[in-house]
Amino acid sequence: MALSIKQHMLFHVMLVTGALCLLLTPSVAELPRFKHPAKPQQSLRLLVVGDWGRKGTNNQSLVANQMGIVGEKLNIDFVISTGDNFYEDGLKGVDDPAFFESFVDIYTAPSLQKTWYSVLGNHDYRGDVEAQLSPVLKQKDSRWLCLRSFVLDGEIVEFFFVDTTPFVNEYFVDPGEHTYDWEGVLPRMSYLSELLKDVDSALAQSKAKWKMVVGHHTINSAGHHGNTEELKQILVPILKAHNVDAYINGHDHCLEHIIDKNSGIHFLTSGGGSKAWSSDVRPWSLEELKLYYDGQGFMSMQITESNADIKFYDVSGKTLHTWSISKDRNVPAWI
Ligand SMILES: *[C@@H]1O[C@H](CO)[C@@H](O)[C@H](O)[C@H]1NC(C)=O
Repeated sequence: MALSIKQHMLFHVMLVTGALCLLLTPSVAELPRFKHPAKPQQSLRLLVVGDWGRKGTNNQSLVANQMGIVGEKLNIDFVISTGDNFYEDGLKGVDDPAFFESFVDIYTAPSLQKTWYSVLGNHDYRGDVEAQLSPVLKQKDSRWLCLRSFVLDGEIVEFFFVDTTPFVNEYFVDPGEHTYDWEGVLPRMSYLSELLKDVDSALAQSKAKWKMVVGHHTINSAGHHGNTEELKQILVPILKAHNVDAYINGHDHCLEHIIDKNSGIHFLTSGGGSKAWSSDVRPWSLEELKLYYDGQGFMSMQITESNADIKFYDVSGKTLHTWSISKDRNVPAWI
């Protein structure tokens, strides 16, 4: 994971530019906002899945099936997708059959016919990004909602969806044989500083009891890709400054729960939507690492004013890990 000297220099310039822009430019833009409160007198209930679109292969269909069962049991309000929605190279256009083969015809359970709030992953950036963001897809399947960055207001909780792919130096300086669709992202430094500023001001304005940030890339992870240093350096200070409760991501094809012992932030990886079992796990303090599961599955959340209950499930629907984050005492406790 070591960055080359060139990457270090570029990254440094980026940090300085970003910090300057944050200081000097008044806030003008705002992230698009959506509202999706809980049903009356109920907790907000949702599923989180990531790294899934493989036309049903690599157990994608089995995960989808279990999501349908758990989704019905919980009577979920919506689904969050942490990105890498269509492998290997995103969508080729709005008429790419992969939209049906990997999404519409896979997540067919009645309980999953809810809005899918989705971000883009690095694999999505290898295709036609505008196509994946296009409202034309919503006409094909009304569940689909994918934007680069946006805010989802669930009243007791606000989710801040952040486009993390443009933060990663490697895709720009060392893309290998891959081509990324950076239309709308260049010039990169102003894109990133605008985005950081928007996220910072949206978090600052939030009055929600819970604040959770969703992005594709890992921040803290013991998995194959490991930590994303760029996000650790420039996004984490913003998360800490605004007392974000959790950061939810995919990218590593596993299920994982890390509690950062300094900030108390919960890092939740739900990237087990299809291909998994990379079986390379990095050493991590067991004081922080509450779950590492190197196979397929997904996560559920049930959120009330006082508690956020998270649960991870494997491909057969078995519960792998349960945790309740308490707002009142701010101390996580087993349930
Ligand atoms: C599908 O899931 C089963 C049960 O966890 C596992 O044994 C199998 O290896 C998985 N298949 C693939 C292709 O990952």
